[in-house]
Amino acid sequence: MDHFLYRNGLLHAEDVAIADIAATVGTPFYCYSAATLTRHYHLFTEALSPLPHLVCFAIKSLSNVAVLKLLGDLGAGMDVVSAGEYRRARAAGVPGERIVFSGVGKTREEMRLALTGGIRQFNVESEPEMRALSEVALSLGVVAPITIRVNPDVDARTHEKIATGKSENKFGIPISRASEVYAEAAALKGLRVVGIDVHIGSQLTELEPFEQAYLKVADLTRRLRSEGHSIERLDLGGGLGIPYARSNEAPPLPTDYGALIKRTVGDLGCEIEIEPGRLISGNAGILVSSVIYVKEGEGRDFLIVDAAMNDLVRPSMYGAHHDIVPVVEPAPGQEAQPYDVVGPVCETGDTFAKQRPLSALAEGDLIAFRSAGAYGAVMASEYNTRPLIPEVLVKGDHFAVIRARPTFDEILSRDTIPAWL
Ligand code: LLP
Repeated sequence: MDHFLYRNGLLHAEDVAIADIAATVGTPFYCYSAATLTRHYHLFTEALSPLPHLVCFAIKSLSNVAVLKLLGDLGAGMDVVSAGEYRRARAAGVPGERIVFSGVGKTREEMRLALTGGIRQFNVESEPEMRALSEVALSLGVVAPITIRVNPDVDARTHEKIATGKSENKFGIPISRASEVYAEAAALKGLRVVGIDVHIGSQLTELEPFEQAYLKVADLTRRLRSEGHSIERLDLGGGLGIPYARSNEAPPLPTDYGALIKRTVGDLGCEIEIEPGRLISGNAGILVSSVIYVKEGEGRDFLIVDAAMNDLVRPSMYGAHHDIVPVVEPAPGQEAQPYDVVGPVCETGDTFAKQRPLSALAEGDLIAFRSAGAYGAVMASEYNTRPLIPEVLVKGDHFAVIRARPTFDEILSRDTIPAWL
């Protein structure tokens, strides 16, 4: 459930009319609902209770500092994958002991930043990384808490670009070699092993692959303990999918996911960490755009809108579906007609939807792309020198711009012409 609903025929984010935000901010823009973010976060904490747990929001899905502050103030931890994300979490007031650091390519500089600024644990993904982290920790006179990410060789049955738990993927160490790698970690003076980490992919629409992976982690926990390691925490990753199309069957609910966690690893006495991104942020955001032209093509009508693939890349990158709704609710019984919804970027790939049935639209009409809160703004670029679009946060009847649209002067001032040119 989210808080983007029609009221008196107008799409609202909570108590604010989208058209009012558009009139103030201009289009296109992202709009997030604080109540939806809060609700989704609580779904996870409720699903995991009474197990000791920490829900670490995957910042990569939506990294605006205002959103992180909102979630951090509720008690959320953060899953970061870069120095930039670490800084965002800290800027939002999240203490180091609630930040986990994931990613296959952490640099020594990033390790230093997190070790000096405070960190709950590093989720280490390879032996070279483990050795580097130990060296960096020793040079700072500290000990780095780590889990080791294991690759369970499980098919997440999701889009191939976002599956991460198969043996051919670059992530984690093969679970078959875990004993050997944990033994080496235990011998490195700069490290303290605290647990196991696993993440098999994103936008999973079935629980079964999680079950396979978590059962393997449970076995591994028992084995590593018998080999003398202290396994206090299990980081079970993120990945629970969301419904992108209202008509589709719904993916599993956080309660069922929580029950699965309790069933598979709940009796091990470990603290459970999860790293959900999309389920918290995805349906908590929309992308609002306006129609520039309606163009009659050969046997089809193009809706040319002012948002483009550089603002929301998921349709062109993954062939992803995002529901599109008009901001003014269509009158009951109004007929839908098919449109190809496209942006102004000079690529055929700049297509949001083909032959999408929508009520008749005209120049200047506002539309909203739903489920755009996750991997929307964060994956945007300035391709075609289109400024990054603003982000707006709504809470009740308040709204605020939480990232402003840059001016063209700001964009141009980042380029420099060398004196010798
Ligand atoms: N933890 C780790 C280690 C991850 O790599 C990811 C996502 C997550 C947690 C959060 O997964 P989530 O709960 O959001 O599914 N750009 C793609 C998604 C890439 C996901 C990358 N890793 C998309 O737009 O679908």
